[in-house]
Amino acid sequence: MNRDELMAMYDFAGKTFAVTGGAGALGGDVVVALAGCGASVMILDLRLGGVPAIKERLGERASQVDACEVNVLSRDSLTAAGTAINERFGPLYGLGATVEFGPLVKGALDMVMDLLYEA
Ligand SMILES: NC(=O)c1ccc[n+]([C@@H]2O[C@H](COP(=O)([O-])OP(=O)(O)OC[C@H]3O[C@@H](n4cnc5c(N)ncnc54)[C@H](O)[C@@H]3O)[C@@H](O)[C@H]2O)c1
Repeated sequence: MNRDELMAMYDFAGKTFAVTGGAGALGGDVVVALAGCGASVMILDLRLGGVPAIKERLGERASQVDACEVNVLSRDSLTAAGTAINERFGPLYGLGATVEFGPLVKGALDMVMDLLYEA
């Protein structure tokens, strides 16, 4: 399967994604891949220092990506992020989760999804 066929299968034009840990190594690759498939992407990360380099990789697609400082372990922070996503790009379609929660934070990913989709 070539790249064009793959992109046709994953046409996310007009769809909004959030990527937790999106300013990190793995998250940045997820952000670039989603934007490459046409998605609008909100990076949700505790540290946004990696965002300019991600935007540079995106070239003319950089305007499809924005970033929001978020602690995924904070309900208030996630609720604010959900509102910011809605205002910037519209309703959330999908989530890329690349932050490691650790075994003690049971249910953390469910909380992230609930709060982001509720906003
Ligand atoms: N990079 C890889 O090739 C690879 C391969 C397999 C698995 N993983 C796993 O994927 C996860 C991410 O790896 P990485 O290499 O991208 O790490 P990374 O450190 O480059 O990125 C993690 C990002 O998560 C952010 N973050 C941390 N805690 C946060 C919080 N509470 N709220 C919001 N953001 C937070 C950090 O600021 C950082 O930008 C890790 O669990 C790692 O073990 C990575």
